[in-house]
Amino acid sequence: MKREFAAALRCPFCRGPLGGLREDACDEREVREGEIACTGCARRFPIRGGIVHLIDPEDRTIAREVAGWERMAGPLGDGLEPVMTALPWYPHRPWPETAPDFFQILEEVDFAGRRVIAIGAGRTWSSRFLATIGRAAEVVAVDVLTRRYLGLETADLFFAADRSFFERLCADAHRLPLADGWADAVFSVASIHHSSDLDGLFAEIARVLRPGGVLVFVSEPGRSGRSASRRFCSSRETNIAHLTIVVPESTSSFSKALISS
Ligand SMILES: C[S@@+](CC[C@H](N)C(=O)[O-])C[C@H]1O[C@@H](n2cnc3c(N)ncnc32)[C@H](O)[C@@H]1O
Ligand SMILES: [Zn+2]
Repeated sequence: MKREFAAALRCPFCRGPLGGLREDACDEREVREGEIACTGCARRFPIRGGIVHLIDPEDRTIAREVAGWERMAGPLGDGLEPVMTALPWYPHRPWPETAPDFFQILEEVDFAGRRVIAIGAGRTWSSRFLATIGRAAEVVAVDVLTRRYLGLETADLFFAADRSFFERLCADAHRLPLADGWADAVFSVASIHHSSDLDGLFAEIARVLRPGGVLVFVSEPGRSGRSASRRFCSSRETNIAHLTIVVPESTSSFSKALISS
């Protein structure tokens, strides 16, 4: 986490500003090890490998979600680096559909100079390209997974490969640890359908977007659209939350969120 980014952070528990940054180790990009605390409720959030950890350890929904992804991924040994740096190009479903959809969005939506929150960023390949090809001013990758080759730690490969940078928060997208109106855009690839509370998620997205900000989401399974993810993982086997989003339903949830925010 870059030192200056602390001002954008809010406590996911009480929404108080975070402060009192302790820097135990830094590199040329960011604070790699340390701690930041809530000025409201005094909770402390560790920074490990540059990632700020803001998950509620008592949250059983999140714990179940993390365990499901970990179980599905299994052991992730060395040698995956070339696979990760080639993402989203990968010759198995759902990637052959995801990759062109993603790059089409990058062509159609202007992220240049904008602040973007990537929710459910996973291995962070999309955050990488929002920051590089998309020329976003600031990108914040949010996910509940951190393990290298599965979650946010994978970003270190991209930082080294193309000298890019984006922030990484290990946090629940339903309780985004960011200030109201901070973002120009919220972005998601194939993550909204993993929400355990769609109304709550959209309300939170509306809170962090500035007025006129945009929500862009791609590669969601829909009842009428392509649904690679439906076959890709089964919630019964893994406990991973999994919705089949119906477009009118998500539109109405988002409208409700905008009205109440
Ligand atoms: C299908 S994966 C997509 C990952 C990434 N966007 C990609 O396209 O490679 C869904 C992601 O949503 C994340 N996720 C699930 N529940 C979440 C939550 N409550 N908050 C943040 N991320 C969540 C998962 O950990 C997972 O990385
Ligand atoms: Zn707090």
